Amino acid sequence: MGHALAREQWNTLLPPIHNWLHTATIKETKTAVDGAHYGVVVRSDQADKDKVSIDAPDLDDGLKAKLLGQANTLGWRPSAGPLHLNVDQNTYTLVAISSVPASLKQVARQVGLDLAKALKELKLKHLVLCSTSQGLILDIAEGYISGLYTQAGFKGQRKNDQSFPPQLSLLGGVASSQSVRDLVEFSKAQVLVRFLQDAPPNYLTPKKFAGIAQDIAKEYGLVCKVLGREAMETLGMDMFLSVANGSVEEPQCITIEIPGVDNSKTVALVGKGLTFDSGGISIKGSAGMEEMKYDMSGGAAVLGVVRYFAAVKPPVKVICVIGATENMPSGAATKPSDVVKAYNGKTVEILNTDAEGRLVLGDCLSYTINEYKPDFIADIATLTGAVLMALGCVGGAVFGSDESVAQRALKAAELGGEPFWQLPLWPELEKEVKGDTADLKNIAKANVKGGTIMAAWFLKEFVGQTPWAHFDIAGTAWNCQALGYPSSGSAAFGFRTLVNLCKTWG
Ligand code: BES
Ligand code: MN
Ligand code: ZN
Repeated sequence: MGHALAREQWNTLLPPIHNWLHTATIKETKTAVDGAHYGVVVRSDQADKDKVSIDAPDLDDGLKAKLLGQANTLGWRPSAGPLHLNVDQNTYTLVAISSVPASLKQVARQVGLDLAKALKELKLKHLVLCSTSQGLILDIAEGYISGLYTQAGFKGQRKNDQSFPPQLSLLGGVASSQSVRDLVEFSKAQVLVRFLQDAPPNYLTPKKFAGIAQDIAKEYGLVCKVLGREAMETLGMDMFLSVANGSVEEPQCITIEIPGVDNSKTVALVGKGLTFDSGGISIKGSAGMEEMKYDMSGGAAVLGVVRYFAAVKPPVKVICVIGATENMPSGAATKPSDVVKAYNGKTVEILNTDAEGRLVLGDCLSYTINEYKPDFIADIATLTGAVLMALGCVGGAVFGSDESVAQRALKAAELGGEPFWQLPLWPELEKEVKGDTADLKNIAKANVKGGTIMAAWFLKEFVGQTPWAHFDIAGTAWNCQALGYPSSGSAAFGFRTLVNLCKTWG
């Protein structure tokens, strides 16, 4: 593809916040400093919402009384939004903590997001974020950083307006200096996830996706293997390939190996990387079709894990796999009723070409299991519209091959402060993926419903006895409505959970 944007290096298209994460001075401080701007958390009284207190154990009591005095004089109500105040040489922004009963981490990230919004226009030299009595400083900082993310790369006039404070201090409450470094690496990875999600599909083609993975692998000395059309044909990954039949872009199965501290245990992650899902011959309606550029969000989250663990060594070996392709209609495209043979030997009747994610993932799952023999495998995908019906845009669905796996997955989600809800693999529905003409069919009969569960049952046909978790993020990958996430565009949803799954496995 010859257009000018396609030739642009992906690194140069990353938003300014990525550069800030490299250049800013970010550190902890035990004591308050002068000449800075403070972000301060305010809590409302349970009974009287307008009665507020400042939750910053590391700030002087006299100062807190002055701030509250000024706020009262101004008649400030937390519901009016953040308040800017001056006391002595310093400036302060009071932000109310949400009373929505979401997890602590989400509430803290939302404070950071609100702060970023409130401070965006101010040219601050030194921002100090204050810990709360619950010690949420790193989560507030994480939210603040994600609040500075912009979609700048694809604007004709690339604004490099560095209105970000060159110095960021975290006042009190950080356990070790390792944590600050962790926050920075984590945030860089998260910026990458969102950048990939937001990138237009004529830029982020499967080839470009693989190129970015290879660049990252090279930078950190990781092994990266990319299978193209021919290599997948040779291996017999025809179920994956059938999705790419209608596209002029070559599909790519991308694998990156990350050595861990203990390499006797292996965790594998597989991400759906549909750089555009038109539906294929079972084509989607045009309203909202542009959103299908985000159908690679699972793959983006997995590449974010690579970027993070490249910098912060994981406890166990981590294998990251991304199944990247477009799903397009053409004279060569797969037709409803075509039968294909999967990598694991099972045959599948494709009754709806828009149920393509499970075809890509199924082959990636059995290929990864056969090749790397992981102790545990998880996949993450914008898999079904049905999950929006079930859970709305506030949480993702999680399945486990057994209850203990599901509980571990939920635990990882909780550690990362991500709302996931377990759905069942109802045993009555297992037979509904079995085919008439072939072993399997890629959609159940119209009267079966439970689309998210049926997709999970289909995937289960490709994991054998390996402990397996499945995350469906179709409702939350973008325009996420959960507290602590940017409310429009890319959300990097699931990325935190994957990181924590790897950290807690073994
Ligand atoms: N990528 C979509 C799922 C999706 C829908 C993601 C809405 C984000 C928002 C997936 O490939 C798809 O098209 N699924 C179909 C499956 C159906 C044909 C069985 C769906 O959910 O409608
Ligand atoms: Mn589809
Ligand atoms: Zn899709």
